[in-house]
Amino acid sequence: MLDLTHRPRRLRSTETIRRMVRETHLDVHQLIYPLFVSENISGRFDIASMPGVAQLSLSALKDEAESIAQLGITAVLLFGIPEQKDEHASQAYAENGIVQRAICTIKQAAPNLVVITDVCLCEYTSHGHCGVVAKEGGHYQVLNDASVELLVKTAVSHARAGADIVAPSDMMDGRVGAIRTALDSHGFTNVLIMSYASKFCSAFYGPFREAAESAPQFGDRRTYQMDPANALEALREVALDVEEGTDLIIVKPGLPYLDILWRVKERFERPTAVYNVSGEYAMVKAAARMGWLDEKRAVIEMMTGFRRAGADMIITYWAKDLTAWLREQW
Ligand code: PBG
Repeated sequence: MLDLTHRPRRLRSTETIRRMVRETHLDVHQLIYPLFVSENISGRFDIASMPGVAQLSLSALKDEAESIAQLGITAVLLFGIPEQKDEHASQAYAENGIVQRAICTIKQAAPNLVVITDVCLCEYTSHGHCGVVAKEGGHYQVLNDASVELLVKTAVSHARAGADIVAPSDMMDGRVGAIRTALDSHGFTNVLIMSYASKFCSAFYGPFREAAESAPQFGDRRTYQMDPANALEALREVALDVEEGTDLIIVKPGLPYLDILWRVKERFERPTAVYNVSGEYAMVKAAARMGWLDEKRAVIEMMTGFRRAGADMIITYWAKDLTAWLREQW
């Protein structure tokens, strides 16, 4: 006869014990909610491929900021869609640009909301690339240093408008150090940098490019975003950003890169965020609409996975839904 006297007992016998021994916790303070503010609309404009997500006008943004703060969300990540795009992304760093005005709107509506701004040129360039492009014949090249100069101007203009944290997402070399130096020399020593330190060239950004109107008009982002096959390169990229003074690290996308998230957190021991990107959102939404999976359970499982893999913060389009779901039993 099998003797099972000394086997450890299960820790899941009741709901209360299950909760008591749970290793990973989800909390509304860990969530960062992305917002798209557009100069081209009034009110809200729904993004077809991201049900529940909309571009907002400045006045819609005011209402949204108030309701987000009321839900208990503490941080937002801001993206802008300007009326005018040009080769030099001039609206990215315009004093009266859409993001600069949006920061003021949010700070007036909800002064305690932490405002993180995405610092990139792709929403502002006529060609949709994240940097300055030199074109010759059929060839084009993204110019690193010229792009960094504009990214620095953009970051400083966000800080001037009242941003708490700037988040460079372009993946140009040397931009974190350059932004840190410029912020300090303009007196913004308390503004933090949250760099997209490891950002892969991913199919999962598809719906976002509709939301932010930032799809490249020619070519792709392979020359500046990382090859999904490379984990060591990702660690080297993060090491560079850490050396240059990034305060917080973003790993992006989330689901296909949990190994990177784990290694980054273990190795650098910095506050680390994961970006649960638009394509990850769209695929669950689509399956849920078809009745193929339970959205709430799937989302909580995904978020728990991000936390287990080392994420301190999760940038997610589900942040608002989660504030309600996390109040229920799960
Ligand atoms: C801008 C940027 C992108 C995302 C965040 N910042 C798009 C891209 O790199 O093409 C994607 C976010 C998402 O898919 O939710 N560079």
